[in-house]
Amino acid sequence: MSWQDSIDTTNMRSMVSGFPQLLRSSRPNDYILQEAVRLHERGIDGILLLGMGGSAIAGEICRAYLHDKTAKPILSVRDYTIPQFINDTWVTVAVSYSGNTEETLSAFKEAQSRGSSTIAFTTGATLKEYAGDSPVHILWPGFQPRAALPMVLSGLLPVLEILLDLDTTDLDTVSVDIEHVSSLWAGMQTTPADLAKMAKDAIPLFIGWRHLIPVAYRARCQMNENAKKMAFSSELPEANHNEIEGTASCVKTQFLPVFLRSNEEDKRIQTRIEATIETFIENGCSPVNLDLELPSRIHESLGYTHFLDSMSVELAEILGVDPMHVERITELKKKLEIKT
Ligand code: F6R
Repeated sequence: MSWQDSIDTTNMRSMVSGFPQLLRSSRPNDYILQEAVRLHERGIDGILLLGMGGSAIAGEICRAYLHDKTAKPILSVRDYTIPQFINDTWVTVAVSYSGNTEETLSAFKEAQSRGSSTIAFTTGATLKEYAGDSPVHILWPGFQPRAALPMVLSGLLPVLEILLDLDTTDLDTVSVDIEHVSSLWAGMQTTPADLAKMAKDAIPLFIGWRHLIPVAYRARCQMNENAKKMAFSSELPEANHNEIEGTASCVKTQFLPVFLRSNEEDKRIQTRIEATIETFIENGCSPVNLDLELPSRIHESLGYTHFLDSMSVELAEILGVDPMHVERITELKKKLEIKT
């Protein structure tokens, strides 16, 4: 069955459940693949990723996944302007689901003016226009951008891997594995619905290490956008040098720290994470040690994302809010248009 037969794009729960199918929904076409090969053969100094919010996250996850597999820098900009050193030896990959996000468009124009080659991922609109003859990967329309993450990643990761001359990750297999694993969640000690119940009266704080840092950030954004709930994320080891002091306020404010555990943790990191969990407990918090026991780095990045996306729709239901519409984001975009 194709994803079009099983996913209802007017329903966030349906899009979130369709995460594994969406991971195989939008492979790059031959033209884009050939262009990626051509750019790699010509030689590149680095990759600049552009995108905001739900459109930035696929790039962030890929960047963290690839961080130690390539000698080339992968830089992510979520702003209007790009660093001075971006020039014609860099490839700029811009993602904007709507194709109309002003920060992405501004940075994209600047990259073009510096002579950078570009590849765009969008449903159309201004980004497609700006891209001109350079490659554009057209995304399926009708989604909320944040729900399109697996679709964007299914096209973006292979393009980045070709640009960087890396072995291609078998996303088809990963997607089937994640589909299987998610069918077993109901029997787990902590399900997405259980986590959502715990988060109802608390402020979730997702804590990740290495490739799970953007996953923790994504979880926070999904609580914000789907469940309309204030939530935070942080990264280890950095949080041990600042945030840990904030645990003193756990007695006054109810936080729900959720530690995303990885099979890649070495002894030192494990000790650090366990000591951090202990500190939260000593200060009156009840942290969740989430270990999905997934078989590889990419399974962890995408499996945890799927799990926590599901938590966000459960939380939206518990809180009685509509997970689809993001009226404050839309209103703010309108206000800014008026003020232009
Ligand atoms: C809405 C969402 C937002 C958008 C962001 C950028 O579902 O996830 O975070 O992704 O406002 O807009 P696009 O993705 O259209 O460039």
